[in-house]
Amino acid sequence: MNEFYSAVESLRFSTWIRESGSIWSYPIVLTLHTMGLAILVGFNWAVDLRLLGFAPSVPVGSMKNFFPLMWFGFWINLVSGVILLMADATTKMTSWVFGVKMLFVILGMIILRKIQTGVFHPEKEDLVQDGKLLAGLSLTCWVLATTAGRLMAYLGPQVGLSGPQIK
Ligand code: HEM
Repeated sequence: MNEFYSAVESLRFSTWIRESGSIWSYPIVLTLHTMGLAILVGFNWAVDLRLLGFAPSVPVGSMKNFFPLMWFGFWINLVSGVILLMADATTKMTSWVFGVKMLFVILGMIILRKIQTGVFHPEKEDLVQDGKLLAGLSLTCWVLATTAGRLMAYLGPQVGLSGPQIK
C-alpha cells in the first residue's frame, strides 16, 4: 500500500499543493477545510443542543432547514480533505490519529442522517423526546473528530504538510 500512497503523494497536483508556495494551494485548501467543519459542526451543534432542551423557545421544526447547509459543509470537507490527504498520503494514511478522526467523522455523519430522517420526521409529535440520545452522541462525535483533527499536527507520524513559505 505504501507504494500506492507515495504514488498519490508524488502526483503533480499533490506536489503543487504541498510545495508550490502559492496561497491558492495548501493555505486556501486548509482554510476551506476549516470553513467546512465550522458550517457542518456549528449547525449540527445548534440542532443537538436544541434537541437536548437548550433555547426551548426556538421551534425545533424550523431547524430542519439547517440540514442542507450541514451537508454543504460536509461536501466542502470531503473535497478539501481528500486534497489534503493526497498531498500527505504516506503520513496521514499511516496515522492512528487520522484514523480516529475519520472514525468519528463517519459516525457523526451517520447520526446526522438518522436525526435528519428519524427525528425530523413529519409524523413525529415530540421531536425533542426522540432526539435526545442521538443529539448527545452527535455532540460527542464532533468534539472527538475536531480534537483528533487538530491534534494530528502534534500526535502520530509527522512528516507532511506544514505549508512552505508563501511566495
Ligand atoms: C470527510 C472527509 C475528510 C477528510 C478526508 C479529511 C482529511 C483531513 C486531512 C488530511 C487533514 C490534515 C491537514 C494538515 O495536515 O494540515 C485534516 C485536518 C483537519 N480536519 Fe479533516 N477531513 C475530513 C473531514 C473533516 C471533518 C468533517 C471535520 C470536522 C470535525 C474535520 C476536522 C479537521 C481538523 C480540525 C483538522 C486540522 C486542521 C488544522 O490543522 O488546522 N475534517 N483533515
